[in-house]
Amino acid sequence: MRLVVLVSGSGTNLQALLDACADPDYGAEVVAVGADRDGIEGLARASRAGIPTFVCRVGDHDSREDWDTALADSVAAYEPDLVVSAGFMKLVGGGFLERFAMVNTHPALCPSFPGMHGPRDALDYGVKVTGATLFVVDGGVDTGPIVAQATVPVEDDDDVASLHERIKVAERAMLVDAVGRMAREGWTLDGRRVRIG
Ligand code: GRF
Repeated sequence: MRLVVLVSGSGTNLQALLDACADPDYGAEVVAVGADRDGIEGLARASRAGIPTFVCRVGDHDSREDWDTALADSVAAYEPDLVVSAGFMKLVGGGFLERFAMVNTHPALCPSFPGMHGPRDALDYGVKVTGATLFVVDGGVDTGPIVAQATVPVEDDDDVASLHERIKVAERAMLVDAVGRMAREGWTLDGRRVRIG
């Protein structure tokens, strides 16, 4: 299965996928990495792995729709079977989603705590268990059909950074496991229910 991975930051989820894809039995390969900004560690990780990269900045386009089309055209050049948003901090539009199946990770247990501050919002709410969710992007904010979830405990002395770091460890393992199974076994969407195999 050909993957295009989109990143906006440190790219540790991308790195986990790159490491998994080094095993031919994994079933997927990262064919390109795209970003919405320059100078990020995620792009450097791709370059070190010899993976082609591209950057598509919102500010270089007259409208959000134009950016969406340009991003989709850049992605299409690599003919992916699946687009993986791995810490990509932009919402893509309906035009993009008509052209590609896309999954995204969120550092909370959806449908709880959607948006930019999942770990902070979970901590502020006082939940004792949170985690990470892999979902099929549907155009809403962390609303799409759920592919996989992983739980982590919230410790009494956690701050946002320590909690997010614990979540990210579980998030990476969940992402690698689920994408690999999607690649090897296939997947279907029935309403909101995602089935692998
Ligand atoms: C992840 O926790 C992701 O869910 C969130 O931002 C983080 C990105 O981490 N949206 P990285 O760039 O993969 O290291």
